[in-house]
Amino acid sequence: MGKLKIGVIGAGSISDMHFQSYQKNNEVEIYAICDMNEQRAQEKTNKYGAEKYYTHYKNLLEDPQVDAVSICTWNNSHAEISIAALKAGKHVLIEKPLCKTVEEAHQIEEAVKESGKVLQVGFVRRFGTNTEVLKKFIDSDELGEIYYAKASCIRPLGNPGGWFADKERSGGGPLIDLGVHVIDLCWYLMGKPKVKSISGNTYSKLGNRSNIKNLSFYKAADYDPDYNTVEDMANAIIRFENGASLMIDVSFTLHAKKEEFAVSLYGDKGGAEIEPELLLVTEKNDTILNAQPQIDSLSFDFNKGFQSEIDHFVSCCLGERETISPVQDGVEMMKILCGIYESSETGAEVQFDEDVEVKQ
Ligand SMILES: NC(=O)c1ccc[n+]([C@@H]2O[C@H](COP(=O)([O-])OP(=O)(O)OC[C@H]3O[C@@H](n4cnc5c(N)ncnc54)[C@H](O)[C@@H]3O)[C@@H](O)[C@H]2O)c1
Repeated sequence: MGKLKIGVIGAGSISDMHFQSYQKNNEVEIYAICDMNEQRAQEKTNKYGAEKYYTHYKNLLEDPQVDAVSICTWNNSHAEISIAALKAGKHVLIEKPLCKTVEEAHQIEEAVKESGKVLQVGFVRRFGTNTEVLKKFIDSDELGEIYYAKASCIRPLGNPGGWFADKERSGGGPLIDLGVHVIDLCWYLMGKPKVKSISGNTYSKLGNRSNIKNLSFYKAADYDPDYNTVEDMANAIIRFENGASLMIDVSFTLHAKKEEFAVSLYGDKGGAEIEPELLLVTEKNDTILNAQPQIDSLSFDFNKGFQSEIDHFVSCCLGERETISPVQDGVEMMKILCGIYESSETGAEVQFDEDVEVKQ
């Protein structure tokens, strides 16, 4: 059997992680690249040795040689492109967040069912070694019943601007960009409990703080210091049907002392910190133990995480396994993210049950 032919749609920053990981996978060939910015499409085609490049995703999807695609475009095109790719008979790896709304998420879910193709949502943190190691401990019941989790992803100064700061293209600010990773990480490790209610708040008090001098931060290619339509920060408490709860706060800008990235889980037999460093907390012989595994990287290793995500996707496309990051999880995550925005807008708790879902 020949190699799986890959198309990458959206050739910006994160696409490099996809390209580099595909390059190291022997089962695939980077075959085609698409970006509406022709220069970028051309540059990446030369850099990664693809055969073809396109400036419209529809042309790439019409190419019968393409077996699978990575979609690395802005969030506003995720639904449209992934549905078109599935309809064209391609397997899909879609960058996070799955899309912008719950309605779109359901449409993608329907397209996956109809096509019978693989769709994997890019929850890359699930593929970090620290997460994989902890998952084994959780599966062997070392933490017992996990009833509480907490995640913070705080930047005092770090609104990347460009499309990230444009609600139309991104769907939101730090919640949809950073929150999606940490909420999913907790939810996945908690065993994907069903959401019961959400109370959330978003604030737009500081803007992007582009006035700040002498402190550098990542800026998107199309950074504009005067444009920002997304929230500065968000917080939420999410209650699950099994009684467990999850508390999060995330920011692009906040009067905080320093950056903070912390994710913890607490069970009735033990606890764990995943970030900033993997650590297990337990009790033995009436003594509390902090146990630190000896592994290469105690925090998320970007390169290894992406390699593992791409290798898993390829293996799913080859029919060797089912994805651990299916479309249904993307739908649940969109319900949570949109639920937080809705609760913030209405100033009230959003309730979920079998029949009633958050409106868009
Ligand atoms: N998994 C992660 O850790 C991670 C990190 C960063 C970004 N992302 C996600 O990756 C996606 C892209 O982010 P980025 O930082 O690479 O952005 P980027 O702006 O650097 O790149 C996006 C590229 O997509 C192209 N594009 C946009 N819409 C298109 C369309 N309809 N057709 C063809 N090309 C189109 C743009 O021209 C641009 O070159 C986003 O969904 C983002 O949330 C994920």
